[in-house]
Amino acid sequence: MTEPALSVQEPASAAVKRLANGFCHAKLLLAADELGIFADLHRHGPSTQADLMDRLPLHPRGARELLYGLVLLGLLEFQDGSYTNSAAAAAALVPGAAEYIGGFLRRADRVLYPAWQNLAEALTSGKPQAPGAGPEAFRAMLSEPRQREQYVKMMDSASGLVVGHLADAFDWGAHRHVADIGGCSGNLVGHLLRRHTSLQATVFDLPELAGSFAEHSAALGVADRVGFRAGDFFTDPLPEADVVILGHVLHNWSADEREFLVAKAYGAVRPGGALLIYDAMLDDRPTNLARVLVSLNMLLVTEEGSEYTMGEASAWLGAAGCHDVRVQALGIADTLVAGYKPAV
Ligand SMILES: C[S@@+](CC[C@H](N)C(=O)[O-])C[C@H]1O[C@@H](n2cnc3c(N)ncnc32)[C@H](O)[C@@H]1O
Repeated sequence: MTEPALSVQEPASAAVKRLANGFCHAKLLLAADELGIFADLHRHGPSTQADLMDRLPLHPRGARELLYGLVLLGLLEFQDGSYTNSAAAAAALVPGAAEYIGGFLRRADRVLYPAWQNLAEALTSGKPQAPGAGPEAFRAMLSEPRQREQYVKMMDSASGLVVGHLADAFDWGAHRHVADIGGCSGNLVGHLLRRHTSLQATVFDLPELAGSFAEHSAALGVADRVGFRAGDFFTDPLPEADVVILGHVLHNWSADEREFLVAKAYGAVRPGGALLIYDAMLDDRPTNLARVLVSLNMLLVTEEGSEYTMGEASAWLGAAGCHDVRVQALGIADTLVAGYKPAV
């Protein structure tokens, strides 16, 4: 269980005010990323405020406070009058870095931040507060190249946090073909195939993602071992495979739709194969604030989605016919629930 965010070691009003100011912290980071501070410091090394103002569109009003704030948030370091990226910023905020999550930040800024403005409305009405929530609006969003690119980068950031853990969490050597249903640009299976060189894969997703998939799988150097099948997972047949994955997919849908998708995905698993699902699943009690926030994101950006519990997920796999259903952590952000289809 994570510690409550409210500290008991300071006056209640100060602790509550700090919580209420959390949006300022978020926006300092998001604005700094949008202005290119982290990429610029990576490129040019230690820089004074004046250097940064010469190179970036920073007005004198606020520049000092932005930089001081980023130091105090742990994102920059300040020494001898110059700023550099902190280790955390160098790892996660510089394009091309190992844990780069710029795609997540852009979409968090453009879509999630404005939607959270209407959280009380969503909690009252149960209705999403972001554009693109229903299936038709979602596909219209995917048809717009800049928005599609933002969406794909955000999804790649999310699957990028999972893939290292998933590559180790399962006996991939026992299987040949994996199908990633709702696999987006193929980021997850692309990295998986690089780690497990005898695996082959099919990504199943909406036709609007075909171009992003082709580009990304070529960039990852796995285009000869992974194919793309365009379709709608509610109405079209799914590709058969030894291992079928539903990752960050079920939380977009209602409980009935999740159960339907799990049963359909199980139908695509070859005998002796496995069905894997992962999401930021919840516990039966409040244990993980980050996952609660992901679930509220689902309230805000989908019509009926939310996170679900590990118990619910295990029950869906069991009801579909899986045996040996097991639950396993994938780092701190996600949980894997896996089950097997009997060999015939
Ligand atoms: C939240 S993303 C998950 C991406 C990736 N699997 C991951 O682990 O991050 C959901 C994916 O499902 C796809 N999707 C949504 N509706 C779909 C449908 N009806 N049929 C097929 N794919 C769909 C989206 O295009 C998107 O790529």
